[in-house]
Amino acid sequence: MNQVYEKVNNCLKSVRKVTDFVPKVAIVLGSGLGDYADDIKVEAEIDYHDIEGFPVSTVPGHAGKFIFGYVGSVPVVCMKGRVHYYEGYDISDVVLPTRLMKMMGAEILFLTNASGGINKSFKAGSFMMLTDHISTFVPNPLMGPNIEEFGTRFPDMSHVYDEELQDILRKTAKENDIPLNEGVYIQFTGPSFESPAEIRMAKTLGADAVGMSTVVEAIAANHMGMRICGVSCVCNLAAGISPTPLTHDEVQQAANEAAPKFKKLLTESVKKFV
Ligand code: HPA
Repeated sequence: MNQVYEKVNNCLKSVRKVTDFVPKVAIVLGSGLGDYADDIKVEAEIDYHDIEGFPVSTVPGHAGKFIFGYVGSVPVVCMKGRVHYYEGYDISDVVLPTRLMKMMGAEILFLTNASGGINKSFKAGSFMMLTDHISTFVPNPLMGPNIEEFGTRFPDMSHVYDEELQDILRKTAKENDIPLNEGVYIQFTGPSFESPAEIRMAKTLGADAVGMSTVVEAIAANHMGMRICGVSCVCNLAAGISPTPLTHDEVQQAANEAAPKFKKLLTESVKKFV
């Protein structure tokens, strides 16, 4: 058996020892959304440490567990804490949790993150729904032997972010008076923030926001045929656009301030994913 596939299967076995819960929606909680579980009717939880072979994040504020429960009537699994490529994991480990949630039964993936705003019309603390992405500067998580159980060797990437889910997000944002920008997200590896020249390059390439996650997870999920949507909290203006140096504390603080609206958008959208 393919080693990566075997590893995900072993993780699934660990999970199934704890819960039989079958989620419909998988939610990845980015910075500032760590206490989102407060909004969920929780049925079960598993610490990442208790899952055999699971990559455990080392970033402060990214303590890790899966939370299973209901948002409205929709069964969800939430990732409280994700792993980032810059922590030193193999790219196949970075997307292992995404693959695992699909194997638990999730059909939809809702990705959230914190980003830096490249589009000059974006303000710090605003939201951007992902309409597309640029993955060119991070390794492709599908490299290596194709795992046929997951999907095809050469997956189409024309419609990664599901049009119907995008419509639901737009409608939900409007109903709740939450301004929602739209645009292209570019993933860089980090952990250093970008240089002003890199941001100018990203802008020239067509990116509206920049971050250190999400795209590789979207590629792995798209490979497996999941329906995907994503929302980014634009926590700061990117390097060279921001008048001040960037800090992780600034990002975290902006994410925390935006969290109530972010949670509202997430909850009210997911309730409609029936
Ligand atoms: N760059 C990369 N990642 C980020 C940023 C940024 O400016 N802000 C939040 N995450």
